[in-house]
Amino acid sequence: MGALRAPPRQLRRGRKGRAPGGTAVATPPIAVRVPRAVSAPARAPTRKTRRLHVLVSAGPTREHVDPVRYLTNESSGRMGFEIAAAAAQAGHKVTLVAGPVALATPKGVVRIDVVSARDMLAALKGAWRSADALYMAAAVADWRPAKRLAGKWRAKDGGATTTALDLVRNPDILATLTGGRRDPRRTVVAFALETGDGVRRARAKLVRKGADWIVLNSPAALKAERTSVRILSAADLEFALTDQPKRAVARRLVELLDLQD
Ligand code: CTP
Repeated sequence: MGALRAPPRQLRRGRKGRAPGGTAVATPPIAVRVPRAVSAPARAPTRKTRRLHVLVSAGPTREHVDPVRYLTNESSGRMGFEIAAAAAQAGHKVTLVAGPVALATPKGVVRIDVVSARDMLAALKGAWRSADALYMAAAVADWRPAKRLAGKWRAKDGGATTTALDLVRNPDILATLTGGRRDPRRTVVAFALETGDGVRRARAKLVRKGADWIVLNSPAALKAERTSVRILSAADLEFALTDQPKRAVARRLVELLDLQD
């Protein structure tokens, strides 16, 4: 495997003879590791000229205990919304499936609002049939309360000072959609938020969930405007984007669509 410092834009220019979109955008250099297979002669460009149906999930899911209480996480939804915006700007048809977040719908994007992981799975399943690509940026809650109570949870009744909540596993949305297999006709980008042993865990998720790429980030990214990510591919490519606005990272992630013909 070779190592060089160059933006994917230059990498692609080498493969396809022109910059995507034909526009010159200042791009900070990023580390790119290029396996032999990718430096092989270019195949005919195809996707670049097609309007793709891009599916994006964003935000947290909310798993209700009762009508007023729920389990959730810190996801702001910003990364997914930026990807949806960038994909629409690139001319693609975009469906955004969003968990509960108070963000404006990007221009030209069809948005489906959902609450729980199971709602999100149902909405994505419907749109997945006609999709060419999926960015699974949502922070799906892995667990939900075993029962959603119709009235308020009265755990304090009788003076209890401790209690327990039974949880059941939510479906793995991405693995359900892909069946754990990559499909050469589609591009699937997963996300992994890790607190330790990130690359190993992210690579395992990439394989398990049938994704083509996985975007590795850390909890610091959750509410931040800027982020640092490592983008790993099933074909052993690796890009690093350091301390960049989420909007800029989103644009680079949408450019991944051009790498997969
Ligand atoms: N994901 C999913 N369905 C779930 C959990 C996660 O589709 N029930 C997706 C996320 O949207 C993300 C990828 O899988 O694209 C990895 O999510 P992450 O939460 O990092 O991984 P988990 O499989 O939940 O593993 P863990 O939280 O134990 O690290």
